[in-house]
Amino acid sequence: MKNYFTEQTNFYGSTSPDKLISDFGSPLYVYNEAILRQRCREVKGLVSYPNFKVNYSIKANSNLELLKIVLDEGLCVDAMSPGEIHVLMAAGFKPEDIFYVGNNVSEEEMRFVVYRGITVSIDSVSQLRQFGKINPGGRVAVRFNPGVGAGHHEKVITAGKNTKFGVNTDYISEIKSILKEYSLKLVGINQHIGSLFMQGEPYIQGVKSLLSVAEQFEDLEFIDLGGGFGVPYRKQDGQERLELKQLGEILSTILNDWVNKYGKEVAFKIEPGRYITAECGVLLGKVYSIKENCGITYVGTDLGFNALIRPAMYDCHHDLEVYRNGSLIKGGESQTVTVVGNICESGDIVAKDRGLPKVDEGDILGIMDAGAYGYSMSSNYNNRLRPAEVLIKEDGNAVLIRRRDTFEDLMRNFL
Ligand code: LLP
Repeated sequence: MKNYFTEQTNFYGSTSPDKLISDFGSPLYVYNEAILRQRCREVKGLVSYPNFKVNYSIKANSNLELLKIVLDEGLCVDAMSPGEIHVLMAAGFKPEDIFYVGNNVSEEEMRFVVYRGITVSIDSVSQLRQFGKINPGGRVAVRFNPGVGAGHHEKVITAGKNTKFGVNTDYISEIKSILKEYSLKLVGINQHIGSLFMQGEPYIQGVKSLLSVAEQFEDLEFIDLGGGFGVPYRKQDGQERLELKQLGEILSTILNDWVNKYGKEVAFKIEPGRYITAECGVLLGKVYSIKENCGITYVGTDLGFNALIRPAMYDCHHDLEVYRNGSLIKGGESQTVTVVGNICESGDIVAKDRGLPKVDEGDILGIMDAGAYGYSMSSNYNNRLRPAEVLIKEDGNAVLIRRRDTFEDLMRNFL
């Protein structure tokens, strides 16, 4: 017997996939406020160390209304582009709530961040020198490569030997001399080992390694341990959650012991993106055709990779649910199908050789765990319109939180 996430969580509140599609159109991102708030609270309580902050990494999902909820839950944020800062300020975040973890930034971009009083993390020796030139005497953080990487795909591993990110520890003395040369104050160090771990071990290794880097600098104000906390994308088949409680206990011991040794209280931060928003989002779409091609049954939908690119980009799995006449289809006849979108590429595949209840034209499909790196990676490829976004409020009612693109959106930058 499979687990159906939307049923278990009463995801759609007082509405239903059919009603949502008929009111707001298809495809449609649907978010659940209660789940979002719950995830925020889980990470806030991760460790017992008192000076602990969670920076939500908004690249996962930067919808303005969701950001306001994250702010209301008392989280801070990390940003990685001026555009993200712009949206964060509009959502009500203050410069001191924002940590800028940039990568290969222009001088103009550095000034944009510095002039707003936002702390910047620098990702290379050369950029530290550039920072020193534009902001001598300033406060700065440096991102280190702890030598340990982890992630669900080689494209999202951001530490270890094979990555553009972070400063290798071999450069510590060079970093120190640049800090001195420009009278910079190193207020923090940070890392991010990669995206999506389901076992705490690599994260703990990364933390230990970053702490040994921290020992080589006096007077740090914060240490940012990075994100990467995974969510189970195969819940239907009973995949376990990341053991957050156990990981939190181990981290609490490590952090408390380390601070005693360091002799000064520092703030510890983490930077989760996916963990906060993945599970509060479902992408709904419609089935328009069923066809057989050389023994494969293709279920043709409007869920093209312009709307959700993760399966096409990383070959990753998202659970699917089928809805018909307002109900979730759980049992009955099943079949193995390949679910595809409406984009003009053979790689436009949502799910390959997937066992599903028998699907008909007119059915609605729900792609689970689409709240992180879903809309934020969507595009207008093939001049498709990006979906609308709807929030199921805690009272169960649905409100539109971003309208669907229009043809005017496709035309607005032409001169
Ligand atoms: N901090 C930094 C510096 C990052 O680069 C990232 C993600 C995060 C935090 C948040 O990582 P998370 O907690 O979400 O794993 N598009 C890919 C994921 C790319 C992650 C990029 N960096 C996906 O859909 O799986």
